[in-house]
Amino acid sequence: MSVDVVLGIQWGDEGKGKIVDILSPHYDIVCRFQGGPNAGHTIIFDGKKHILHTIPSGIFHENILNIIGNGVVIDPVTFINEINELISINLNPQNNLYISSSAHLILPIHRVLDFVYEKQKGDNSIGSTLRGIGPTYTDKVARRGLTIGFSLRDDFDKLYKELNDFHINYLDYSGIDINEIKIEGFSYREYEAKWLEALALMKKFTIINTEYILHKALKENKKILAEGAQGSLLDIDHGTYPFVTSSNTTIGGACTGLGIPHSSINKVYGVTKAYCTRVGNGPFPSELFNDISTELQKRGNEVGSTTGRPRRCGWLDLSLLKYAIDINGITDLVLMKVDVLDTFDKIYVAEHTNANNPYDSNDIKLIELPGWQEDTSTINNYNDLPNNLKKFIDFLEKFTSVPISMISIGPSREQILKKINI
Ligand code: IMP
Repeated sequence: MSVDVVLGIQWGDEGKGKIVDILSPHYDIVCRFQGGPNAGHTIIFDGKKHILHTIPSGIFHENILNIIGNGVVIDPVTFINEINELISINLNPQNNLYISSSAHLILPIHRVLDFVYEKQKGDNSIGSTLRGIGPTYTDKVARRGLTIGFSLRDDFDKLYKELNDFHINYLDYSGIDINEIKIEGFSYREYEAKWLEALALMKKFTIINTEYILHKALKENKKILAEGAQGSLLDIDHGTYPFVTSSNTTIGGACTGLGIPHSSINKVYGVTKAYCTRVGNGPFPSELFNDISTELQKRGNEVGSTTGRPRRCGWLDLSLLKYAIDINGITDLVLMKVDVLDTFDKIYVAEHTNANNPYDSNDIKLIELPGWQEDTSTINNYNDLPNNLKKFIDFLEKFTSVPISMISIGPSREQILKKINI
């Protein structure tokens, strides 16, 4: 049993990247298992901010092997940009990064389709990050997608053209001229040339059946950390469908997205903010539309790290927390951004009890708790936390029956309090 998993258990943006970065030194291998460049995992150290979209957050530790698993979808352009950022801080990720040959490629046409599908949805749009995630997973499930492994085959150009033509025909049929489309300010053809160049560079990395690497590591009792992307409430099966992402962000995704058995999983860390945020459209039962949401947004710097969009804010939703804990079998909670609540004289948590619909906001009830009104961001020891904050933590542990093992009090690597020895 030597795989531990870190999962976001809200609507993403919980701070998983920071937690994976902190836990990484205890592991031999760190893996991503789903999602793609819709994710933005932020890690801050030495006063500098690093945002990873596709590459596992263990990459900053050169002695750790990082794996992009089969369940991930990869855009070579984003991937190479990330690699260049890492090279610029004197890392050489080619040494400690493997890519599953079964991970699927996000093609330029997938980004176009994401945009077109969203536009066609009109008022019902998902609020996608428009990184091509949905159309890539759609092609994967429709069994016509292109894996990274395919890009090593002699007939890849033919496969690429066939898939591209398939989608361009659909666009033609819908009256959309591909030559009118721009991606990141480039014409479609210019962007495609950049993409092909990036793919050629990506092919120089180690592209293999990563499940064998993981099985061998498990037999050798190596320690593996699996890093989730997005959050449980965006899961394709258990989230606020259809306002979700296109992968399984919950625990099952770790098994299918890496090819590891469920019996290898030990700890499951559930990362949650001390309040709730959501970027994009869809239900959010405890959402606030008042000064408090503005305050949470401002103090928490709640702006999407991938898209720069402001995040919607609300109180922590206990019912959804419990739902996510039950779906994932969370063994340890990690409470993030506690310092954002430092200025409030009263804080609230929401509860709603419709057993048939976890996302129903009709019967929502707010529970009031006293605030602590003290700066927590420089505290070094759990015992020195304000009493009312400790009471809040006790309350959450009692409600969920899950221990809170870490409390984050600021964005940097150092601002973490370990309640239990990790
Ligand atoms: P897509 O996965 O880019 O298609 O986006 C689908 C929904 O998931 C949208 O509401 C996005 O805002 C949301 N989403 C996707 N990735 C993330 C993430 O990493 N953090 C937060 N929200 C995300």
